[in-house]
Amino acid sequence: MKKIKLQIANDIASITNLDAKNIYEYIEIPPDSKMGDYAFPCFKLAKDLKKAPPAIAQDIKNGFNNISNDDIDKIEVVGGYINFFVNKIQCIKSVFNDVADKGEFYGSSMEGKGKKAIIEYSSPNIAKPFHIGHLRSTVIGGALYNIYKFMGYDVVGINHLGDWGIQFAKVMAGISLWKEEYNFDVNPIDEILKIYVRFSNEEKESEELTNLARQWFIRLEHGDEEAVNLWTWIRKISLESYNKTYDLLNSKFDSTNGEAFYNDKMQAIVEELEQKNLLVESEGAKVVMLDKYDMPPCIIITSTGTTIYATRDLAALKYRIDTYNFDKMVYVVGGEQQLHFKQFFKVMSLMGYEDYVKKCEHVYFGLIVDKNGEKIGSRKGNSVLLKDIFNEAINKSLEIIEQKNPTLENKEEIAKDIGVGAIIFNDLSNNRIKDEIFDLDIMLNFNGETGPYVQFMYVRTRSILEKSNIDVCDISNIDFSLLQEEETFEMIKHIAKFEETLKNALDKNEPSILTRYIVTLAQMYSSFYAKYTIMCDDEKTRNARLVLTKYVGDILKKGMNLLGMNCPEKM
Ligand code: ARG
Repeated sequence: MKKIKLQIANDIASITNLDAKNIYEYIEIPPDSKMGDYAFPCFKLAKDLKKAPPAIAQDIKNGFNNISNDDIDKIEVVGGYINFFVNKIQCIKSVFNDVADKGEFYGSSMEGKGKKAIIEYSSPNIAKPFHIGHLRSTVIGGALYNIYKFMGYDVVGINHLGDWGIQFAKVMAGISLWKEEYNFDVNPIDEILKIYVRFSNEEKESEELTNLARQWFIRLEHGDEEAVNLWTWIRKISLESYNKTYDLLNSKFDSTNGEAFYNDKMQAIVEELEQKNLLVESEGAKVVMLDKYDMPPCIIITSTGTTIYATRDLAALKYRIDTYNFDKMVYVVGGEQQLHFKQFFKVMSLMGYEDYVKKCEHVYFGLIVDKNGEKIGSRKGNSVLLKDIFNEAINKSLEIIEQKNPTLENKEEIAKDIGVGAIIFNDLSNNRIKDEIFDLDIMLNFNGETGPYVQFMYVRTRSILEKSNIDVCDISNIDFSLLQEEETFEMIKHIAKFEETLKNALDKNEPSILTRYIVTLAQMYSSFYAKYTIMCDDEKTRNARLVLTKYVGDILKKGMNLLGMNCPEKM
């Protein structure tokens, strides 16, 4: 299809003497195929050509009379638009050749070749178990990581662990006080959480505890041996527990340099801010004033003399500029931190790094809420552990398998793919800035727009292919004219949009664009399957439908994998 679009762009360019590349960008796909397969809006040419759009459209249409383009069956002018109806057979042939040629790279534009992208994601505050609040960053960031890679970028995935700061010091202070009362042998991370919760509660009544935590933090900042050892132990325990979740989610990180990594890099940032006359004293703290930009001051050093979250983000960005020389960097962090990112980006710009700040983007997202719109995890101060949620989803999936297909092999593994896939898919189903409704019954509905539904459709394509015995990789004898029914042709056109979909998802840092695309493909295949017999008697028709089945299955799987989900071969 891309070739056909390119040819149309070239033809229009030769008729109008305008640049083919721009023309190509202007060509649209009409919302309804009754208006053609491609449309060219002439409005954007009116200024250059000094003519009304309908007149331009007519001229271009006339121009096509002198051009031979076998791909086009019909051209219609409607107002300022030219609608092109492509020749179905040519179109199907072009899509099939494209898929067959590109194989597993089908859909990749390779636009990132030679470019470096940093995807910073997950970034939980450790020393606590993985909380549901971290899920979205991990899932959205993981999908972006895969999509950027597939599109040819050299990607660095960074987990900017919250392994520093007063929160962490509270756990350290708690352990120093009460370690005898807890048993760290079995589930150390759960014990650490208990200590954190106890500390936070008792702290409300006791200023001494707060002071103790502060002292631990100061000791840590100064490299005191006992503090550093305790810190190292907590970090190790936390990561071991986190890695179990990352394995389930297929999350990949190239660096886990968290906030602590920047401890020895902050002094330089503070000095640089001082040299550039950006730091001022305010109520005992050192801040950068941002009132000119309608923002509160960005605190760099607190009144007790310690550094803070923003100081570490400044040091981290400076470090990444020096180390990676990136072309793009996305921070996948919740919407609550919008002000923080605006502030520290502005401070970096004031320091003279505006060119790099322009390459950075805060990719934010909404909250996770229950059916009633209430934020999950906030009720009664209980935090919902991700571990428990995954277990529940996996167990429910296993129950469903027991009902539907009790003799299936590898039930546990498959239940894992389904349960985890359901959670990931739900997270990536809607525009990321919307709140996500978290309801396992909805996510695990095999008939809804869900992960299990897509997985099931993939399995269907595989089981059909298993029953056939043709070589679906050889398309030289396929009769493309047999795939012209309306639904079939629409599905083939959808397949042709895979690359454009990925490009769009990448440009907007919006994985849900891909999720919507694959769910639509699965639905299209489901209708196709219901309406036509794939293993029909006519061999030629059967072969053509089988190859199409293979392509649909491959794209469903590729799409799911890019979003971070597995597709079982049977279920
Ligand atoms: N650890 C932080 C939190 O859980 C998120 C870190 C986001 N990344 C950053 N560079 N500030 O709130």
